[in-house]
Amino acid sequence: MRIEVLTTFPGIIEAVTAESILGRARQKGIVEVEAVNLRDFAADRHKTTDDEPFGGGPGMVMKCEPVFAAVEALTARRPGARARIVLMTPQGRRLDQKMVEELAAESYVIVVCGRYEGVDERIREHLVTDEISIGDYVLSGGEIPALVVIDAVARLVPGVLGDEASVESESFSSGLLEYPQYTRPADFRGLQVPEVLLSGNHELIRQWRRVAALKRTRERRPDLLEEDEKCN
Ligand SMILES: C[S@@+](CC[C@H](N)C(=O)[O-])C[C@H]1O[C@@H](n2cnc3c(N)ncnc32)[C@H](O)[C@@H]1O
Repeated sequence: MRIEVLTTFPGIIEAVTAESILGRARQKGIVEVEAVNLRDFAADRHKTTDDEPFGGGPGMVMKCEPVFAAVEALTARRPGARARIVLMTPQGRRLDQKMVEELAAESYVIVVCGRYEGVDERIREHLVTDEISIGDYVLSGGEIPALVVIDAVARLVPGVLGDEASVESESFSSGLLEYPQYTRPADFRGLQVPEVLLSGNHELIRQWRRVAALKRTRERRPDLLEEDEKCN
């Protein structure tokens, strides 16, 4: 999978994706991440990527030219490849695990990060294929939202995590929150691990986990169960 991130702060993307699971996935070449500096596509001497809003008002708006030029240059490097072009925006579709799974099935994704007051509306209307929000709050830029998407998507790409099965039981993948997890010691200051997890009986453990996941979901996110019922 290849992810290209258009940003005026490529260092933010580079720094985070160089570490841990993402860093290893990049090193192994399973996921390619390239942070592309939008200023390299600005036509003027000052490498301007933003301008004042027409009609007045506070802040600056990201200009069309560098964003269109960057997307055109990047897609021209891969003739025939179909790119999902994602704009990070608080006005987009709210990110969830279903959307993450959908993006993980793609081989080529371009992510556009806004700054200031956001991007010129013509980018939204005529360039991008998707608009994604990571939640109902406003951040200063699209880089952290882009990293949220990259992290969530990359861990579903085969080979990125050590144990693929861990993804299937995780919260939201199965439609439920994940069951509680414990590790050694079995007795920590008198706090015991549920007996069944020490039994070695895989069927009993599977059943316990299923019941615990249902109970946890019912207590914390009953909306997920209602959603599941609607689908079945
Ligand atoms: C300060 S925000 C602009 C908000 C815009 N003026 C509005 O009211 O919708 C700057 C940039 O940060 C990114 N951003 C901020 N919050 C976000 C969120 N919740 N999800 C996705 N991107 C977000 C977007 O790329 C956005 O263009």
